[in-house]
Amino acid sequence: MPSERPFKLLHSALRMDEALDALNAAQEDLEKTRGKLQKQEKQITELITAALGQKAVTSSSLLVSTRHKFRSLQQTLTRFQRVFEDRLEALRTRLDGFEDMLRKYTHAQAGLDIERSTQRQMAAALQKTLQGLINERVQAVPADDTLTDFALPEESHGYIPHPLDGFVRQLISVDEMLTHDPDFFAKGAPYRPVSFLEIGCATGRNLLVTKLSGLLNGSSYAGFDLDHNLIRRGQQALGLEEEIFVADALTFDYAPYDVIFSYRPIRVPEIQRQLEERMVETLKPGAYVIAPLAEDLACYPDMDCLNGPLAIWKKRKPATG
Ligand SMILES: C[S@@+](CC[C@H](N)C(=O)[O-])C[C@H]1O[C@@H](n2cnc3c(N)ncnc32)[C@H](O)[C@@H]1O
Repeated sequence: MPSERPFKLLHSALRMDEALDALNAAQEDLEKTRGKLQKQEKQITELITAALGQKAVTSSSLLVSTRHKFRSLQQTLTRFQRVFEDRLEALRTRLDGFEDMLRKYTHAQAGLDIERSTQRQMAAALQKTLQGLINERVQAVPADDTLTDFALPEESHGYIPHPLDGFVRQLISVDEMLTHDPDFFAKGAPYRPVSFLEIGCATGRNLLVTKLSGLLNGSSYAGFDLDHNLIRRGQQALGLEEEIFVADALTFDYAPYDVIFSYRPIRVPEIQRQLEERMVETLKPGAYVIAPLAEDLACYPDMDCLNGPLAIWKKRKPATG
């Protein structure tokens, strides 16, 4: 498994580190013994020099004991040398293992990088194609002269599409959360079918994606916008006659919906706060809200933030018992 590789690599590096410590210890011992041996040799040489010409000295007890110590130190030195060589060999073996592991890890990492970049390119290409098709269909719907003098209120944002890949990621994440949420438990299904709503849905692009992708186990899909022209075009161009309608987010009743998407419809913070207050007030407990660039949702004790970066919230259910 690729995710285990970094741990194996770390393990291998730690083992090499241990082997290196052992090698250093053996080398230190070797140096100490070599020093002692040199000292003894010096003493023996001095003794022999002092005793030159005197045969009896060669058999003196001091010389015998020094020679004995010398031999034993030589044996110790040989032993340490062997330990040193063994440990060096162990270190080399581990180094080979480490290099092998590093090669495999680098190879696997390169494969993952290619895979990630391919996926990014695929997502971007699909997104561009889908957006192009939708734009083409929407623009093919002729303008309705009776609606041309419609203008959004000053405080509203006009149509700024939310990045589609981000929206899809949010849906996938909510789907995962619903699967593990006891409030939505259903026997024989990932979770009970949910009703989806988009606030300020424009022509309904996100709604269409939610409906057709099957990313949510949905029972119904609805969206509304204050802009009549966008709604009419979406209804005609994208076949969303039943799903999208004109309404005002500031007076809407959010109670019937399980999952709500709202990408900052209002520009003015004070009015956006009013919209959020209305939403939190009328939402049913247990409902999910995906609200990028919300103004104030964090201030409501009833709203739990389930994923900050993806802007996913849930209205808390009152405690029972
Ligand atoms: C930032 S765009 C978001 C569009 C779309 N939801 C998306 O994420 O791709 C805001 C939308 O909210 C609509 N809007 C602004 N004020 C509104 C209001 N009071 N009630 C309903 N829709 C409103 C605008 O017409 C616009 O289509």
